[in-house]
Amino acid sequence: LGKYPENTIVQRPIVAAHRGVPSMAPENTMAGYQLAYDLGADQIETDLQLTKDGYLVIMHDTTVDRTTNGKGAVSSLTLEEIRQLDAGIKFGEEFAGEKVPTFREFLQAFKGKDVILLVELKDEGIEEQVMREIQEEGMIDQVVLQSFNLGSMVKSYELNPEIPIGYLYSAGVPEAQSAKIQNAKKMMNYGTTHNVTLNASYGSTYKEFIQYMRQRGMLTMHWTFRDEEPFRDKLAQGLIGPITDYMQWLTDSPISL
Ligand code: G3P
Ligand code: CA
Repeated sequence: LGKYPENTIVQRPIVAAHRGVPSMAPENTMAGYQLAYDLGADQIETDLQLTKDGYLVIMHDTTVDRTTNGKGAVSSLTLEEIRQLDAGIKFGEEFAGEKVPTFREFLQAFKGKDVILLVELKDEGIEEQVMREIQEEGMIDQVVLQSFNLGSMVKSYELNPEIPIGYLYSAGVPEAQSAKIQNAKKMMNYGTTHNVTLNASYGSTYKEFIQYMRQRGMLTMHWTFRDEEPFRDKLAQGLIGPITDYMQWLTDSPISL
């Protein structure tokens, strides 16, 4: 465990199950979310898209091609057409019949349960609708919104400063990274009385940054762990918030002593 002596009690990480548990169940399906919950996820991560007729559904890609038995852009299909698709069959027969969830269905399934919903806004322009559905379900204390798009986060904050926001960024050319960090600082200033997290790709983070945040009690959620070695290494460096496709690693983790 890196700097910690053997048998040290180390804080259990705050874990976000990325799109459910896509290593064990089809991504972004209710079966996957339920499994994430059963495995003890602190947060369940999802991505939102808007259908042709204006409904929020949960899908990472802009098309349904990879994860369902259908074809086409989400934005060119109606909710009814999308709900007829099978979102489980490509993963395995035992998941046949899984539907593409609506955002509303996802909210309702976990309302009042001991889990936070980490909802990513891929596109600018859906903030008001996202906020309306969260508010109508009375779930502002159970959702964190995140985005790579600063404008989208600022808008979300202005619509309802009660909802925590996470600003996503990844490593890039140094200039780009520095601009992102400047933006993030602005967001953090914005959020002096508010919960703002800086959600960096795990590859772009490093031990000093992890320690800086950890020792100040500041949370960062780091995406997306799909290889076990860096997952274990970063946790040993003190990383608090992994976002992972492998929720099951936590159940077995020696970190959670
Ligand atoms: O949680 C952040 C992470 O999901 C961002 O990447 O492409 O999987 O949405 P992506
Ligand atoms: Ca995402």
